[in-house]
Amino acid sequence: MATTDSTKQTLAQMGVDSPTKVASLFDDLRSAFDRDVAHEISSLDLEAARVKWLGRKAGILAEIGDNWLKPAAKEIKPAVGQSLNALKAHVEGQFTALAAAKDTAREQSAAARDQIDLSLPGVERAIGTRHLIRQTYEELERIFLSIGFRVVEGPEIETPYYNFEALNIPEHHPARDNMDTFYIEGSKAGHLLRTHTSPMQIRTMEKEKPPVRIIVPGKVYRRDNPDSTHGYMFHQIEGLAVDTDITFCDFKGTVEYFVREFLGPKAKTRLRPSYFPFTEPSAEVDATCHVCGGSGCRVCKFSGWIELFGAGMVNPAVYGCVNYDPEKLSGFAFGMGVDRLAMMKYGVGELPVLTQNDVRFLRQFP
Ligand code: DAH
Repeated sequence: MATTDSTKQTLAQMGVDSPTKVASLFDDLRSAFDRDVAHEISSLDLEAARVKWLGRKAGILAEIGDNWLKPAAKEIKPAVGQSLNALKAHVEGQFTALAAAKDTAREQSAAARDQIDLSLPGVERAIGTRHLIRQTYEELERIFLSIGFRVVEGPEIETPYYNFEALNIPEHHPARDNMDTFYIEGSKAGHLLRTHTSPMQIRTMEKEKPPVRIIVPGKVYRRDNPDSTHGYMFHQIEGLAVDTDITFCDFKGTVEYFVREFLGPKAKTRLRPSYFPFTEPSAEVDATCHVCGGSGCRVCKFSGWIELFGAGMVNPAVYGCVNYDPEKLSGFAFGMGVDRLAMMKYGVGELPVLTQNDVRFLRQFP
């Protein structure tokens, strides 16, 4: 049987001396080729097979031309020529077809890799939610914007003038001791981290003529010892309304409206006398406990009431600092701890969880 090595010899050396023997020799070669490419296609090394069969110098077909055809005896030369052409056509045709098949296979496997099965359930991406403090701010802002207040913001680094003096808290006033303050090291002007959002009352009235109706969301800082209800930083929202004819009734009505909006229509409000240097009279605003409705429970320490925030009528002394005429103007102010309100409303027991960024906590408030 002819092997691919036989092309090194001449036909005479192999004893091939008739057209029939030529035909059978070429048949064998063709089978050898088919086996060859069948093997190569699976190892996907078609190029090696191509060189082996069609290589210009050492390729099998070139050798056949040199060793079989050229020296062939006259009687068999035409048969050798024809068979060689036929084999050549077969080999070339096969290579073309195999190359095409190989391309298709490559495309198909790439397509299979990229294929999207639309019937599979999608990958659920975890998306963030607004932080509970942010949500509470938005709720507070919604309520006050609905009755004509406007949001303003101000600096977290303040001067003692805005944080204290202009709010009627002179040096050595005991109210300064209640707000242990962070001072900025090296500041000649005595800059500090604001201890409340109230300085924006002054900054706004300095710039704007009455009527003024603002709320001021923002961070405030105190040198408290951190514990389950205190931190170095917390959030406040300040409120101020000043106009020519604002009465204590307006103050009370606004506060009651706020409490009902924030805690629900059944919530009742109580004003308790209090003291702040920048309001006169001052009040502590309480609401009926949102857990027991006022009958008394552990949350309200069995009093039926929850303390919400501080407020009062603007102290005339404050108007003096901003060139407002205390004879003609009146108004009210309030200052709320947003963290406290959020903890109370959503039943959060500990302040630190609000800043620890634990997703197990955050996910509870989608
Ligand atoms: N600034 C006060 C504090 O941080 C809160 C406050 C009380 C603000 C009464 C006010 C107010 O505007 O009228 O403790």
